[in-house]
Amino acid sequence: MNKPFSPLITIAFVAATSIFMVNCKNETPPAEAAETPALATIAIAKSPFGTTADGQAVDKFSLKNKLGMQVDVITYGGIITAWTAPDKTGNYANVVLGYDNLAQYEKATPYFGALIGRYGNRIAKGKFTLDGQTFQLETNDGPNTLHGGVKGFDKVVWTATEHPVDNGSALKLTYVSKDGEGGYPGTLTSTVVYHLTDDNALEVSYEATTDKKTVANLTQHSYFNLSGDFTKPILDHELTIDADKYLPVDAMLIPTGELKAVENTPFDFRQAKTVGKDIGQKDDQLTKGKGYDHCWVLNGQGFRKVSTAYHPSTGRLLEVSTDEPGIQFYCGNFLDGTLPTPGGGTYAHRTGFCLETQHYPDSPNQPSFPSTTLAPGEKYATKTTFKFSTR
Ligand code: GLA
Repeated sequence: MNKPFSPLITIAFVAATSIFMVNCKNETPPAEAAETPALATIAIAKSPFGTTADGQAVDKFSLKNKLGMQVDVITYGGIITAWTAPDKTGNYANVVLGYDNLAQYEKATPYFGALIGRYGNRIAKGKFTLDGQTFQLETNDGPNTLHGGVKGFDKVVWTATEHPVDNGSALKLTYVSKDGEGGYPGTLTSTVVYHLTDDNALEVSYEATTDKKTVANLTQHSYFNLSGDFTKPILDHELTIDADKYLPVDAMLIPTGELKAVENTPFDFRQAKTVGKDIGQKDDQLTKGKGYDHCWVLNGQGFRKVSTAYHPSTGRLLEVSTDEPGIQFYCGNFLDGTLPTPGGGTYAHRTGFCLETQHYPDSPNQPSFPSTTLAPGEKYATKTTFKFSTR
């Protein structure tokens, strides 16, 4: 069993880190360090990140690896508030959009960096039927339910526990969603492990179990801007998505049920092209999405590389691998210059993009889509890796 974080553990981790750093520099470790077992896990610094409006304390954990990458995670929403990645000259900069204070996350966020659940993406009319019983969820996107509902997993406080790993550092978050919460059946116990590895990858491993038949579709909603300059739109990023098909949507972004070939459409990212290349084309689906805000039907099965994003001038490359059948590529169409950046500016149109690995939207109502039903005794388990390098 994992133990809750305690100051003592944190101190122990910090002690281990300084020793580990010495080892990384290829210097002879001090004699006492050689005796110390399990040195691989790097320190996770813990600090307070404020208190929610309803009085819950929120902590920030900073994961680090031996190359110098840092991922800051808060227990509110499991949100990644900052994530540094090197450019081709070795300079680390934050490449994800976010805020520097809890109040702003509680006030208004387009899911910046958050864990999404129970159901990532949309469920039409917030309604679905399981074994003849219809469930009505809270709706929060016109008549539909988006990203879990009014109070999805992005707006709850998760419990952080120690998660020992043999390289880099890792944090385990747990949230127990009560039977009936948001309208969903069953008590859903979810865990998410963020493991920052020593080769600059963040592995995100999700698990969930339920005590009644329900639906589950968790994802991660980081907004990337690989330039590290959030005043710049992401249209110059070169994207690939390994998908021959995507899911066209209706005016409310609910999939129509068709799996449409990307060939000869602006949705063809099988060869790298910039996000901006075809985004201005006259295309009914681009109009409906206000740009790209669609789920691609990923080729292949099992854990595989599904998408890459490359920023030419900094050389930063992000590779996304997953075992999920779909990926929602959203390019920040709703960012409109109203939300504040920590630097005192605002997040302008299309200054971040998301690659949300997931099952298809509205699967509970679309029997031809891969199932998102989770029954008691089954384990929901899925993994996505975000790996950074330069080119
Ligand atoms: C998802 C949705 C978008 C939008 C963003 C948040 O990616 O698909 O339509 O709601 O989240 O603004």
